[in-house]
Amino acid sequence: MVIRQLPPDLINRIAAGEVVERPASVVKELIENAVDAGARRLDIATAGGGLRLIRISDDGTGMDRGDLALAVERHATSKLAGDDLSSILTLGFRGEALPSIGAVARLSIASRARGANDAYEISVDAGRKSKLKPSALSAGTRVEVRDLFYATPARLKFMKSERAENAAIAEMVKRLALARPDIAFAFASEERTVFRLEACQPGLLEHGLTRLGRILGPDFVKDALPVRAVRGGVLLEGFAGLPTLHRPNSLQLHLIVNGRPVRDRLLAGTVRAAYGDLLPQGRYPVLALFLSLPPGEVDVNVHPAKTELRFRDSNGVRSLIIGALREALGAAGHRATASLSEAALSRMAPPPGRGARPESFEKRAFGLAERAQAPFTPLSEPSADTRGSVAGDDASDTAYPLGAARAQLNDTFIVAATEDALVIVDQHAAHERLVYERLKRSFANGGISRQLLLIPEVVELDGDAASSLSAAAVELERLGLVIEPFGPASVLVREVPSLFGTGDVKGLLADLAAELAETEGDGETRLLAGRLDHVLSTMACHGSVRAGRRLNPEEMNALLRDMESTPFTGQCNHGRPTYIELKLADIEKLFSRR
Ligand SMILES: Nc1ncnc2c1ncn2[C@@H]1O[C@H](COP(=O)(O)OP(=O)(O)OP(=O)(O)O)[C@@H](O)[C@H]1O
Ligand SMILES: [Mg+2]
Repeated sequence: MVIRQLPPDLINRIAAGEVVERPASVVKELIENAVDAGARRLDIATAGGGLRLIRISDDGTGMDRGDLALAVERHATSKLAGDDLSSILTLGFRGEALPSIGAVARLSIASRARGANDAYEISVDAGRKSKLKPSALSAGTRVEVRDLFYATPARLKFMKSERAENAAIAEMVKRLALARPDIAFAFASEERTVFRLEACQPGLLEHGLTRLGRILGPDFVKDALPVRAVRGGVLLEGFAGLPTLHRPNSLQLHLIVNGRPVRDRLLAGTVRAAYGDLLPQGRYPVLALFLSLPPGEVDVNVHPAKTELRFRDSNGVRSLIIGALREALGAAGHRATASLSEAALSRMAPPPGRGARPESFEKRAFGLAERAQAPFTPLSEPSADTRGSVAGDDASDTAYPLGAARAQLNDTFIVAATEDALVIVDQHAAHERLVYERLKRSFANGGISRQLLLIPEVVELDGDAASSLSAAAVELERLGLVIEPFGPASVLVREVPSLFGTGDVKGLLADLAAELAETEGDGETRLLAGRLDHVLSTMACHGSVRAGRRLNPEEMNALLRDMESTPFTGQCNHGRPTYIELKLADIEKLFSRR
């Protein structure tokens, strides 16, 4: 074997393998260059999934002829003034994107330096550079990439369908646009506009939400909580979705560090730790967090595509994120999801053709008459004490955030009225959350108080379940549950948490046994403590007011007042909302009163 120095062309093609994985990576590099050049408006156009054409025009500083010639050379950059890699505030710095793209495609760049009288263009075709030519471009820079990967057929074979590549490009544009709400983006594919994003005023909290809404969806805006924290030289700002707005994967967790959207391996775990038991198992919230910190605190030179970075103090950053998110979620307290209420409202909208055709009216009237048979328990039913209590408390109760209980529906939902809205509460979900929060609090405050069962309850289980529960007896006692082995396949329950009330003991033990089975092999004593939240949540679930229990007005109002004074009552332990609120104004709209 003879060692040889590779020709520059080949070096560029090799580098392209890392930097330019697919059309979306070209789009990323070109957008980043335009952003670094101070552009206020970017136009992106593609054809053939970006393989036939990618064209990006910007109104940034542009390049003069000398810079334009250098820009396509390897390791030529204007972004490292000194030799210091620890003070990078630009998105690019490696000086290899343009030569890499030029090595595997037909690249042409036209540019006019700001204030210059003439514009120039240069092209690179599979590594072969053209001479500089005059161009008619009036301002900024326009980069065109045609026939991507035609020079590397092996890579071309790995491309997905045009549609998949287009989707990846659109995602990429959105990700970058999310990081820079102050820049306008227009994206067109096959000469048709896909989306246009107007520039938002700088000042993230007031205006950034508009851009986030365009990208993360209108539900996000309705359910977004502002997040802000400062520690040392680190500033964290952004918006986090309510836990009820959850997704099956972590793709909608956006972290932007010093203007750079990054994939942080630990972010998903960090966010899950912050949301904790507010989220259903295996689901992720939607959020966009902007982190600003001195450039020396991060190393961006980790990966050729620059989508990953390392924090010098990663624990500090993560605890800042967790703290800020918990604070935002805590402050939101019992706030329920607005987007769900709206969905409910739209489902309630009267059928089209209202009043037009008699038969449709008849049908509806029939429907109403039928529904009148449904179980509905108004509080104003002629029971003296009921009427007294409701009438008496009424004036003040409607001033509470969750209002005054008016009725119970199907023995499952509490219907309450505030001064400007109708509130519907899922009594089981709400109570479960209350019990759970109380169990957690009393556990943290030194112990869960227990109640002795007058008659110890024998619970039959299978042999495995009984023995693993008995083995965990000491731990369970700390959680307020006192059990003893009782024969080969049963346990005897002597005491339960006081908050458990007259809950379902057998159901609880069966679920706890399942919890234990899941962590089997973890060693006997650690297993419950590590899943404390789970165990307490299981207890809360079985100890809560079931759907299907009739409540009296005092019980209902007490539940509403409890919800208001307990944190995190906007959703139950499974992430379902505990209540929805329909504004009177919206109800009036339904009846065309507005
Ligand atoms: N749209 C543009 N407007 C003005 N100058 C540009 C533009 N695109 C590229 N340049 C100039 O060309 C140089 C080379 O760009 P290239 O993307 O190859 O490297 P880079 O951005 O410096 O680093 P990286 O490889 O990390 O992207 C840049 O440093 C910049 O000076
Ligand atoms: Mg670049």
